[in-house]
Amino acid sequence: MLDKDKVQKLRKKFISQSFSLSYWKPLYITHGRGQYLYDDKGKKYLDAINNIQHVGHSHPKVLEATISQLKKLNTNTRYLNDEIGKYAEKLISKMPKNLNTCFFTNSGSESNDLALRIAHNHTRSKETIVLDGAYHGHLISLIEISPYKFNGPGGAGVGKNVHVAPTPDIFRGKYRGDNACDQYVTEIKKIILNIHNSNKSISTFFSEAIMGCGGQIILPKRFLKKTYALVRKNSGLCIADEVQIGFGRTGSHFWGFETQNVVPDIITIGKSMGNGHPISACITTKEIANNFNNGMEYFNSFGGNPVSCAIGHSVLKIIEEEGLQNNAREVGNLLKKLLNQLKIIHPIIGDVRGKGLFLGIELVDDAVKLNPLPHVAEKIINKMKDKGILLSTDGPNNNVIKIKPPMVFNQQNAYFLTENLDLVLSNI
Ligand SMILES: Cc1ncc(COP(=O)(O)O)c(C=O)c1O
Repeated sequence: MLDKDKVQKLRKKFISQSFSLSYWKPLYITHGRGQYLYDDKGKKYLDAINNIQHVGHSHPKVLEATISQLKKLNTNTRYLNDEIGKYAEKLISKMPKNLNTCFFTNSGSESNDLALRIAHNHTRSKETIVLDGAYHGHLISLIEISPYKFNGPGGAGVGKNVHVAPTPDIFRGKYRGDNACDQYVTEIKKIILNIHNSNKSISTFFSEAIMGCGGQIILPKRFLKKTYALVRKNSGLCIADEVQIGFGRTGSHFWGFETQNVVPDIITIGKSMGNGHPISACITTKEIANNFNNGMEYFNSFGGNPVSCAIGHSVLKIIEEEGLQNNAREVGNLLKKLLNQLKIIHPIIGDVRGKGLFLGIELVDDAVKLNPLPHVAEKIINKMKDKGILLSTDGPNNNVIKIKPPMVFNQQNAYFLTENLDLVLSNI
């Protein structure tokens, strides 16, 4: 194993500085197991942030599925192979009835780009409505629909064909409180009207059901129901980006959109789908998929290969066998309760929100002024790291501490995290 100095030098010399490192003093992580990571000195960290290693770091059954399929075969999808069909059948069994046709890809970005292409083809329009603060991926097409990026450092601002609706954030958004839903829906209505006034039609409303990079935002109750109805009345498609929140993370439901009681026209999934292996998918209805099949072949060198499918399949089985959705619900409820107890004694916690094992803690100076505290948030996650707990910050003001651990996170972990957060907050 190389020493930390050498690893840092190699990184500095050969890797683009656009890749960022977490924490003031970067960690050299050498291995992981379950919800724990270990550094080069053998120090153990509770991983409370890695939503990709969904069923736990280095899960033996994922390892076994990978090795046994790699030993047999890995090819593209131009031959008949049993893995892709078996996996697609299992995946579709988790979907609402109409969402029954899969395209396999290699990253969340690739799935979202494909979803856009499918929607543009189906609607013969490119006019896309997105939520302010949203992130949907790193390809050109997705930077263009990600206010998180195009309005962030280095961004070029909003482009044509993209329409930004206010973040439906009832804590600090344009409209606040429990009755704000209709005001946010009216904003979507105004955007659609503007699109029509410029003699265009809407292609798609593209959103997450719980916003991740946007700051762990739970959308107002019925927001998606009302917005989807409006979009469809105007012949647009509704795309749900489930890249961060899918696969039982919310605890109450397998997919995030189910928490809003809607069925999208297209859903995109990735991240946790392969527990770290690059597999993702775009899933839609037969009708929309058939319409896309216009003579231009869809070929993907790696998407849907038998190794990826065997891995994805093993992840779905583990979620069921280990009751991980239920665990997310129970442990998530406990953790949220403990965080809300901290909110009472630490006034800089302005809001605790989220569902299951997808939670956010928003830090503010004052309950009325709500000025964000990004530097305090940064300090907290660095102090928590020293105590052996890994967290990160996000949101448009970088003042939201995010919690989205592997789904094997347990009750003891919840107590450990909140007890240490209490200590750190008391010394800030
Ligand atoms: C909501 C959402 N969509 C899409 C993506 C892009 O996925 P990937 O990094 O796999 O390309 C991300 C990544 O963070 C994401 O959070």
